[in-house]
Amino acid sequence: MMNFDTLTTWRDAGLEDLLELAAEMKARDYRSDVAKGKVLGLIFFNPSLRTKVSFETAALHLGAGSTIIHPGSGSWPLETRTGAVMDGNKTEHIREAVGVLSEYCDIIGVRAFATMTDRFDDEGDTLIRRIVEYANVPVINLESANEHPCQGMADWLTLREAFPGGSAGRSFVLSWAPHPNPLPMAVPNSALEVAIRCGMDVTLACPPEYLPGEGRLGYLRSLAEEKGSYFDISHDQEQGFRDADVIYAKSWAAQSLIYDRPDEEASLRRETYRNWTVTEAKMSMTNQARFMHCLPVRRNVVVTDKVLDGDQAIHIQQAGNRLHVQKAILMQLWKLSL
Ligand code: CP
Repeated sequence: MMNFDTLTTWRDAGLEDLLELAAEMKARDYRSDVAKGKVLGLIFFNPSLRTKVSFETAALHLGAGSTIIHPGSGSWPLETRTGAVMDGNKTEHIREAVGVLSEYCDIIGVRAFATMTDRFDDEGDTLIRRIVEYANVPVINLESANEHPCQGMADWLTLREAFPGGSAGRSFVLSWAPHPNPLPMAVPNSALEVAIRCGMDVTLACPPEYLPGEGRLGYLRSLAEEKGSYFDISHDQEQGFRDADVIYAKSWAAQSLIYDRPDEEASLRRETYRNWTVTEAKMSMTNQARFMHCLPVRRNVVVTDKVLDGDQAIHIQQAGNRLHVQKAILMQLWKLSL
């Protein structure tokens, strides 16, 4: 059974087919009843604006229905641990919940962020892995501990649109940014993977403590080698910005500190590196770079109003593309054609 739980198991050709389909559906403003009678089940362990609305809209545009579950809020609180003694406040185990939803729904989408407290579960993306194991229908990752593949595909479509002549060889900078809260690695992981797969010259600009974990970094390095893409790391943000064609801003927590020394991590993220906010002055060092962000974004913390409201910002288009790539993903997983 085909899932869209991780980009890592999809070949470039399969992802490029998805992008072609998404681009065609976007161009045609495609709406039909091609998926009439099918149901998309969406489990949200965490909040969402874009993912929730774009998936419901995608289902509607294809003639399918959708149902949303927020565990513990209008539906039973779900236990996610294997072997748990369920004598606390969790009423139902995901094993039953996902098994039952598979009886009703034709695809299950799951959002389950990183715990930020359990390194093993987060680095292994164990919850989404378990849900794939328990489901009897295709599973879509709506952002797990380690990946946000639907966001990654929307980013890829946006890069294609930004550089109609091809994004290969263009300079892509993923810039870490300050934030009041410790955010997970899913978006930066997927953004880097997509930019490398596009053949872009990729720079990860982040303070030294904010490198991805060794496992992920190793994967990205070997992917870049396989694709012949340039992938480098800079701890000097302004040097990273010089002549960039794309600035993708995102905050995340320092993997080296968050599990063992969260107070120290918070102080770095909120105070020491506060000057990593993306500003007009920094953007002026670039090659008229497009500004990207997955949203939601903290204005004047991650990036200034002037950059977000300026001509180079393409974050709304980027969010809009969630709808089109997700329509394509539903079509592929349901084996439907236009
Ligand atoms: N980018 C993204 O996934 O947005 P939401 O968290 O609002 O779904």
